Amino acid sequence: MIPIAKPQLDEAEIEAVTNVLRSGIIAEGPRVAEFEQEFADYTGTEYAVAVNSGTAALHAALFAHGIGKGDEIITSSFSFIATANSILFTGARPVFADIKSDTFNLDPQLIEEKITPATKAIMPVHLYGHPADMGLMNDIAEDHDLILIEDACQAHGAIYNGKKVGSFGTGAFSFYPTKNMTTSEGGIITTDNKEVADRARMIRAHGSKQRYLHEMLGYNLRMTDISAAIGMVQLKRLPYYIETRKRNAKMLTDKLQGIEGIECPMVRKDCEHVFHQYTIRTKNRDHLADYLKEKDIGSGIYYPIPIHRQPYYKELGYNDNLLVTEKASREVLSLPVHPAVTENDINTISNAIKQWSDAQC
Ligand SMILES: Cc1ncc(COP(=O)(O)O)c(C=O)c1O
Repeated sequence: MIPIAKPQLDEAEIEAVTNVLRSGIIAEGPRVAEFEQEFADYTGTEYAVAVNSGTAALHAALFAHGIGKGDEIITSSFSFIATANSILFTGARPVFADIKSDTFNLDPQLIEEKITPATKAIMPVHLYGHPADMGLMNDIAEDHDLILIEDACQAHGAIYNGKKVGSFGTGAFSFYPTKNMTTSEGGIITTDNKEVADRARMIRAHGSKQRYLHEMLGYNLRMTDISAAIGMVQLKRLPYYIETRKRNAKMLTDKLQGIEGIECPMVRKDCEHVFHQYTIRTKNRDHLADYLKEKDIGSGIYYPIPIHRQPYYKELGYNDNLLVTEKASREVLSLPVHPAVTENDINTISNAIKQWSDAQC
């Protein structure tokens, strides 16, 4: 079986975790602080605040910016549910704009028409590891005095115009095991804004700076030193992971390009795509996924139902027509490009797709 995802863990992670266990400090401790500094340096931000999931990072980032009841946040419906749920959990309302069909990211041209007096922030998602259009997004945020919160959960190390994602506004990353780097469960907020960082630190610890003195509403969102120790090993390897994913993506594109009915992912010239997912489009997507499964090739559909079409969101009254989003959700299929995928695997995957395509004609 060629799996769609495979975390890369070896003796280095085992030793790092063992050292934490031996130290006796197994909840949040000095390794979390060290990991935060290293991640901030890597992303190019002043501050990083580690938490226990990407969802927690998004939620705490919004809350740290003071977003709450009555506010509207413009975001993408073509994402994991956490993007919008984190907004709902603050009491604010996600407002969905459609995406661009080439990058699957929020279309900046469609944002301004969604702005109302209640709009407080734009939350682009760097989907699949391809940066959203941060140039235009930044301009719109500045013109309308809006906060920029980046859902960078899939895009560690991705670059837009020479600058890493998560450093344009306030960033939120996930370290879930399928991501380009992991801490087991985990997440982190990145920002240059000291006040936002300080508030995020308080939010993750029940609103306190000082033990048992609670100055604001918060929750327990702490990362453990066990997770941070894994994260530090993984962060050192992240450039290698990204290079391997890019190499595998290029090999796949070289082989799939020109196959009837298959559209390969694009990379904008001003962007570095870190290929958290390598996502093709095809009309008969479910049939291809079944065919690959029969051949022991894993694939993934991210995401088969856009957020605004989810039952809970329908209950809330969402009934948008987001044609590009809806078409994408019918056509996308992600193929394995993680660092354990070999050249041999790439040949197996591309040969199977060619055979499938030939049989369709
Ligand atoms: C785009 C996006 N946002 C948010 C999240 C939430 O991250 P986590 O699963 O770590 O809570 C994920 C993770 O799957 C994601 O892919």
